[in-house]
Amino acid sequence: MSMENIDMYYFSGTGNTRLVAEKMMEVFRDIGVKTTLQKIEDSETGDVDLSHTIGIGFPVAILSTYSFVWDFINGLPEAHGTEIFMVDTLGGYSGGIVGPLRKILEKKGYKTIGACEIVMPLNIFYIQDSETCKTKVQRGLMKAEEYAHALVEGRARWGRVPVFSDVMKTVSMGGLKLAAWGPHQRYLKFRVERSLCNVCGTCADLCPVGNIKMEEHPVAGDNCQYCMRCVSFCPLGAIPCIMNYRGKTYSAMNHGEMLK
Ligand SMILES: Cc1cc2nc3c(=O)[nH]c(=O)nc-3n(C[C@H](O)[C@H](O)[C@H](O)COP(=O)(O)O)c2cc1C
Repeated sequence: MSMENIDMYYFSGTGNTRLVAEKMMEVFRDIGVKTTLQKIEDSETGDVDLSHTIGIGFPVAILSTYSFVWDFINGLPEAHGTEIFMVDTLGGYSGGIVGPLRKILEKKGYKTIGACEIVMPLNIFYIQDSETCKTKVQRGLMKAEEYAHALVEGRARWGRVPVFSDVMKTVSMGGLKLAAWGPHQRYLKFRVERSLCNVCGTCADLCPVGNIKMEEHPVAGDNCQYCMRCVSFCPLGAIPCIMNYRGKTYSAMNHGEMLK
């Protein structure tokens, strides 16, 4: 990779992807590459500088990633050979999303130089104990470091399992549509426990799609992406997580760090 400037765009619901992206930036900076690290939810695809190498980082969600992350990827400008790499973090299985993503980016004219999937603690359904999570994070960050070196040294690869991963992407798109469906949104809405909430607004500040409005208490609309930020980072634990076993939540950092 030519590697003079790298702009990495990432989304992270509960901190895993952010830690991975930060670790990779650390490696790049240590070898003298100029880098920027930008949140997808605060970025416009029209501002992407195609003279720089581009990085994309996201968590796997429903066998691909969140709809607004797809909007960002699909909205990337047409390129003429701009180098691009990706990293995702996941609990265990992504359905091979790197394959269809490579196809989309190559069709747009990008040179796809590397993709890597990094297992990190699962942040939904069943949250493991903190020691197990810590060990997974450490292993994940070692893999991120190794991947960043592989990118710099031109050893990184972007594999693709044909057909199967395309089928899985279709399944994922169906899952994302179902999650966005009105009755699903209304039935599985996160609701604030009013007796615990002190109306600090952290949940509204952190929601990546502005789905939480501060009224007398925070109120979630019908565009929840289920990224887990509000439930995981509420400083008072005032948003019960109805999807997780015993309501336990996971986060890789505290809410103050996440707000930065
Ligand atoms: C709504 C949702 C869907 C998820 N779907 C998957 C999945 O299909 N496969 C998987 O391995 N992990 C899945 N996960 C787990 C996350 O990908 C994993 O914990 C990730 O590292 C979280 O990254 P983050 O902390 O940057 O948000 C899902 C998590 C959420 C919240």
